[in-house]
Parts: sequence; structure tokens; C-alpha cells
Amino acid sequence: MQGKQRFEQACQSGGPWILPSLLMCDFANLEREARRLEEAGIKILHLDVMDGHFVPNLSYGLPIVASLRKVTNLALDVHLMISDPHKYAPQFVDAGADCITFHREAVDDPRPLLRELKDLGIAAGLAFNPKTAIESLHDSMDLCDLILVMSVEAGFGGQAFDPVALTKLATLRAQGPKSLLLEVDGGVNRTTIGACRNAGADLLVVGSAIFKQPNYGEAIGQLTAAMGLPV
Ligand code: DX5
Ligand code: ZN
Repeated sequence: MQGKQRFEQACQSGGPWILPSLLMCDFANLEREARRLEEAGIKILHLDVMDGHFVPNLSYGLPIVASLRKVTNLALDVHLMISDPHKYAPQFVDAGADCITFHREAVDDPRPLLRELKDLGIAAGLAFNPKTAIESLHDSMDLCDLILVMSVEAGFGGQAFDPVALTKLATLRAQGPKSLLLEVDGGVNRTTIGACRNAGADLLVVGSAIFKQPNYGEAIGQLTAAMGLPV
């Protein structure tokens, strides 16, 4: 199983879902990191690809996605923070991505790539930064499986949560299609995760609030409890 089917199966378990952002994980032990997260109940991993051009930071690319694909059956949610997503997205599909999200700010018209991702059999998402207006998504929302609401300016882990994301999540939840998944990314921690869930987020991306703790299971339990859910 792969692609959209794997992503949808991960999402069938009943949300909300916490997605660890691997930016701060132990890259020398990727297989162990994936296993530890799976044992902590995680269903989907969030992979932040940065090109040093669209954002002023470099992270990792195809080899890390392909390596993870070999060692885990968890769904892989790839967040492309790159200037030319149309050029590289098919290679990330080949590498094993199950969902690809690219930035509204990176393209003139998101629709062709959203269609292509659907044709390639994976879930398709569109991300937008805190300063980008929600209206810029209106003409392409019908082609999206998910919308990623950035709660920090894309580029770095460990930034402070921008509450503008809560207004955007609530608006999208109220006005968007019922089946649209809403994801939030940046500064999500024990203090901010409850408000994100209440505003309508289904997929909660968490970096530092998991990887700065020695016990991932405990960190994920605390985040789950902070959403008012049973641990
Ligand atoms: C930011 C990335 C995020 C980020 C999350 O550009 O997309 O996934 O690393 O990390 P924290 O939770 O530390 O903000
Ligand atoms: Zn991300």
C-alpha cells in the first residue's frame, strides 16, 4: 500500500493526529526514531524539505525520504518549502511520499500541480504562511486533500506560535469542504495545541515539543492530554 491509500488509512484511526516534524530528530538513527514514534502511537511522520531559496534554511531532500520509506510503514507527509515544487514533487512521490504539500507562495497557480499529485495517486496539500491571506486559496481548495496553515513563517523549527493561524483554521473549518483536512505547523506545543484543535485542526505538526524531550511517548501523551483527549 502506498500514496493516498496509506495516508487515508492512517487518518482512518480517528483524529486528531500528532505528526512529529523530524527536523530535530537523530538523523544517524532514522530507523530507530521512526520505531520509537510508532511505538508512541504515531501514524504519520512530517518531513520538512527546505531548499535554502524559498526559505533561508536548508534541511534535507530525497535521500532522507527514500531512506525512511525503506524502514517504516508509517505514512509520510512531505512539506515542500522549495521554490520549484512542480519540478521536484514527482521525485518525492517516487521516493515514497504519501502526501505532498507545497506552498501557495511558491507558485502562480497551484491547480496544475494539485491535479498532477492526485493523478500520481498521493494526497495533495497546499500550505500558506502567516502573512498570506486565506483568499489566495479559494480558487484551488476544491483540489486539496488538506490545507496546511502555517503558524510560523516557514523555514525554522523552534519559533513562537502566531495566533493568526487560529483565525484561519476556524474560517477554513467553517467555510471549507467538510472532507478537507486541516493541518497546523509551527510552535505547536502543550500550551498552543488545545487552541489549534478547538479551532478545527485535524493534523498537528510538532517538532521541538517532542524532540527536545527524552521520552517521545511521554511528550506525545502530554500533547494528547493538552487537547483534552484520553491518553
Ligand atoms: C517550519 C517547519 C515545521 C517546524 C516545526 O518551517 O515546517 O515543521 O520545524 O517545529 P516546531 O514545532 O519546533 O515549531
Ligand atoms: Zn512543516
